This record gives sequence, C-alpha cells and structure tokens, in this order.
Amino acid sequence: MSNGMSYDLMRAGVYGNSGFYSGTRVVFGEGEVDRIARHLDFARRVLVVTGAESARRFGHLERLEAALAGLESVSVSANISPNPRLTEVEAAAAVGLEAGVDCVIGLGGGSAMDAAKGVAVALGNGGSVTDLFRSGTEAPEETLPVVCVPTTAGTGSETSKGAILSDEERGVKGGLRGEALLPRLALVDPELTYSVPMRVTLETGFDVLTHAIETWTSRRAGPIVELFSRHAIAAVHRWLPCLKSDLNDREARREMSYACLLMGFNLANSSTCLPHRMQYPVGAATDTSHPAGLAALYPAWCENTHAAAAPVFDYVGSVLGTADTAAAAVPKLMAAFLEDLGIRWTLKDLGIEGSQLEELAGAVSGNLEADPGPTQPEDLMRLYERSLDEPF
Ligand SMILES: [Fe+2]
Repeated sequence: MSNGMSYDLMRAGVYGNSGFYSGTRVVFGEGEVDRIARHLDFARRVLVVTGAESARRFGHLERLEAALAGLESVSVSANISPNPRLTEVEAAAAVGLEAGVDCVIGLGGGSAMDAAKGVAVALGNGGSVTDLFRSGTEAPEETLPVVCVPTTAGTGSETSKGAILSDEERGVKGGLRGEALLPRLALVDPELTYSVPMRVTLETGFDVLTHAIETWTSRRAGPIVELFSRHAIAAVHRWLPCLKSDLNDREARREMSYACLLMGFNLANSSTCLPHRMQYPVGAATDTSHPAGLAALYPAWCENTHAAAAPVFDYVGSVLGTADTAAAAVPKLMAAFLEDLGIRWTLKDLGIEGSQLEELAGAVSGNLEADPGPTQPEDLMRLYERSLDEPF
C-alpha cells in the first residue's frame, strides 16, 4: 500500500478529508508580471505592500508599478520587515485608507504577502487588525481582495489562507487565518525569483519540501494534497540541487516556483505538523530563519514520525534514496540531503544550549493534533534533544 495511488487510499478510508477548496485564480509564467493589469478587472485603486529593500533594489517594484500604470491610482507602502509586525501592517493600512484603495497587492516573500493579507483585513474592518489578531478569531469576510506576487519560492503564501504576523508589543508571533484571506489572484512569475541569493534560495526551497512532507503527513491530508505533495517532493529533490550548482538555471527556478505554488494549496487544505510548531520557539530564541530551524529539526522529526505515516515516508525514501529504501532510512537521508545543499544545522549550530530545551518545549504552541506521530511534552523534549547535536 505504501506507494498506492491517492484514490485507492481514499477508498481504503486512509483519508478522512477528501475535499479541497481554493478561491484563488493562478496566473503562472515568465513575464506575467508585466501583464498583471489584464487580471485586475476588480481593482481600480490599489495599494502595493512590499519590503523595504529587495523589491526596489532588484527593480521588481518598478516593474510592477509600470504594469499597473493604467489603473486609477497606485499607492505603495514599502515598510514590511522579514517578520512582519502588526505596527507595520497598521501603518500600511493607513496609507491604503488615505488613498481609498479597493485592492491590496503583496509583492515579495512570505512576509510581504502575509502583511498584505493583514492590510486587506484591516481595510475591510475599519482600518485596524490588531484587536482581531489578539482575539484569535477567524478573519471576517469583509476583507479587500488580495493579490499576491511572490518574489521567492518558499512560503506558498500566494495560495494559502494564513498570514503570520508578529505582535511586537506582546512578544507574540501568530497567525491570522480564514478563507477570506485566500488571495483573489496569485500571479507567479518565476523571473522575479532570478535575483534571490544562494542561501535564501536553498532555505526557501527546503521550506517547500517541508510543506510537501508535512501537509501529506498531517491528519488533515486528503488525496489531492497527496498528489501535490508527491509532485513537490520529487521536484525539490530534482531541482533544488540544480540551483545550488547554478543560480541562473531558469528551468529549476520555474519548477521551484511551481512546487511552491502547489504547496500553498496544500497549506490551505491541510496543515503543517510538529516541525512548524517547534521552529517558532527556536526562531524566537535565536533570531534564525524559519527554514534554518526546520532544517535543524527535520531528521529527528522524520525519525519520530515515519512509523505513523509510512506511505509518506516510503515515498520520501524512494525519492531521496532508491525505490526500495525503507521509511526508517529517511532521517539519515534527510540529513544527507541537507548536508549536500549546505544547509544542515543542528540546534547547537543555531545557538541553542542544552539548558534551553525545556523552555523551548514549554513554548511550543498551536495545534499539535494534526501530527500523527507522538506529540506529548516528553516527545517534544526528545525531539529537541535529538536535534541539539549530530546524531544522524
Ligand atoms: Fe514553512
């Protein structure tokens, strides 16, 4: 059964969730950003939300503004930092309110796209999102339409219904979620990723792989999620090493953008698992990137989970190893794959000491139910311990 087709797995009752939803129109292809206006018949006055640096430095913002020139008005808020803060979202929303916009475009990596979603919620709800974020409720229906134009291949935010934001005042990082946050349009132009530097390319590419493995491993997976995950796992394994050899490999850039896009659908229809819950405390304690923490946790998590999700890990083994590689070999293969990419770290490498592990385990929050492996507090401790040094 391990490599059985999705439909068989559904019929066998493996998946409780056979549904799938997306309200996002996808436009994919090189040069599509220049033609974005033809897909914006619902927008007259737009706000572009983007980061403070790279969108300008690499000319993406200029290119997008030129493509939007025929619209009634285009405002720009270029203030979003890598971990978007509520205060930045509120500031961008104030710009949008002033300009009377009817659509929010997020241009950038996950941070800019997530911030754009927050801005759209704010503008649809009297101009503020902070109270809503703090109340932890689902984002209400009345949001402005969001358009996502990713410039990296990693988060899948362009087709997902979540936005990760930081409440600096309270020291909390959390999610704003809801179907109203599904972008109206995901305009994925692989050309915009050509300028992404090596380390970010490899890290964000690994994030795509984790989304593929976790959304399929999750108890919320379904047969369509599985099909997309199978594609993305094979694609990352095939194409990310090509980018390690040559950042100008356009076919590899395109394939990574495509895999990332598919994983956005999966994030919206399934969920991530323990690694994504356990990375947040690591990131907060060390100020290291999301994929760096995931990379440190991954071999141990594969070890923790492969028995509970054998079809997934048999497939991962067949991709990272050979057709008859056992799921139990995946932790080692995963560590080797990360090593080959040059993004293999332990928690120690990221600056974590053994004495901090208990605190980290205590800080893991969010829904752990979706992970089919052991998720008790002692399991989290063991996972952090196994990830501290170099056991693989
Ligand atoms: Fe992620």
